[in-house]
Amino acid sequence: MLKILVIHGPNLNLLGTREPDIYGKLTLAQINELLQKQAKTNKVGLKTYQTNSESEIISLLQQAKGKFDGIIINPAAFTHYSLAIYDTILAIGIPTLEVHLSNIYKREEFRRKSVIAPACVGQISGFGYRSYLLALTALLDILKDKK
Ligand code: DQA
Repeated sequence: MLKILVIHGPNLNLLGTREPDIYGKLTLAQINELLQKQAKTNKVGLKTYQTNSESEIISLLQQAKGKFDGIIINPAAFTHYSLAIYDTILAIGIPTLEVHLSNIYKREEFRRKSVIAPACVGQISGFGYRSYLLALTALLDILKDKK
């Protein structure tokens, strides 16, 4: 059974009330529930984590080696400057997909650059909670192709 790790970065625990015009009205728990449903339909395992800490994201990524087949990550604000997360994704060598609820290319200048993207298989940005569901579909397709 394929195992997928989903990491939600800082402030994503506030979804539902955090700038709903930008990030949508669903809570993180509701998004995780939708992901679990999709995982069940596809008969894959899925584990979700949220943390506000960069070091915890790095530890989660390091510990994923040998345990997970693919990773979906929304690094939130770390997207724009965390070379440490970029390095960790390269180091573990697990296919990783970057996700954003908002279209980061349509927003403030500082959000238009992802330092994480070059370490990832691809990026899905701008589809609200659906970005995560699209990412899961894409990641599972990629992993099945690899088998
Ligand atoms: C975000 C976009 C980031 O710029 C921002 O810092 C976030 C959320 C998104 O999902 O749209 O916290 O990653």
